[in-house]
Amino acid sequence: MEIVPPKINIMANTIVVFTGAGISAESGIPTFRDSDGLWCNYDINEVATPEAWERDYKKVLEFYNQRRKNIMETEPNAAHYALVKLEEKYRVFVITQNIDDLHERAGSTNVIHLHGEIFKARSTVDPNLKYDIKGYELNPGELCKYGKQLRPDVVWFGEEVPMMSEAYRVLNLSDCLIVIGTSLQVYPAAYIIYNASPNIPKFIIDPQASQVNNIKNLKIICKKAGEGTPELVDYILKNGF
Ligand code: OAD
Repeated sequence: MEIVPPKINIMANTIVVFTGAGISAESGIPTFRDSDGLWCNYDINEVATPEAWERDYKKVLEFYNQRRKNIMETEPNAAHYALVKLEEKYRVFVITQNIDDLHERAGSTNVIHLHGEIFKARSTVDPNLKYDIKGYELNPGELCKYGKQLRPDVVWFGEEVPMMSEAYRVLNLSDCLIVIGTSLQVYPAAYIIYNASPNIPKFIIDPQASQVNNIKNLKIICKKAGEGTPELVDYILKNGF
């Protein structure tokens, strides 16, 4: 009788990737806090808070219309595509602070958007009532089924981050954490790196990452995402992490 060895699941290892605006910078989407960042040119309080919406919702809609237009004109870059390659050997969850869709367009399977998705609109009276936005515009007068103005399905400053619990669920499954292109200045999202198990290997890919302290098992790769991510992914696929 032939003895068939049990199949070993080489997919057992789970990698969580936590991304910020830096991963999309080389695609042509500005970051927020770099010298040419969005928050240098716009006041957060005028475009990205519930109070801004109350005061002048048309201005807020126009701000996000311009962001959407910019994102529609971009393509995923080498970093987004490298993360897809990682799925050949690992179960990968991407937790992103980005509202763009470049991870999905590159082909990543499991993407959690902590700060929402710019190509979705939601009702202002029922946060679970969502609609896809087809072109780049969401305009005054576009209403949900209750007859109320639609807003972008993004998280504004001062609002809760409902996807945080899902992010922690996958973080608890992770055997390795890769952080790419985030200043780690916005909470609760930034807690991800501090709440990862001290025992798992962690990597940060960011040209400015040297400011991060007191994280165990951390390797910092001071490179742009488009260079550092494919290099790290190739290394992990060959050697593990
Ligand atoms: P930030 O603008 O705060 O940080 C961008 C990070 O990307 C910095 O650490 C840069 O050094 C790094 N970076 C720039 N170019 C890069 C490149 N080519 N490759 C790799 N890294 C690069 O953006 P986030 O940390 O994503 O939230 O910002 C977090 C949140 O603040 C955003 O999700 C948004 C913003 O306000 C809301 O709007 C709620």
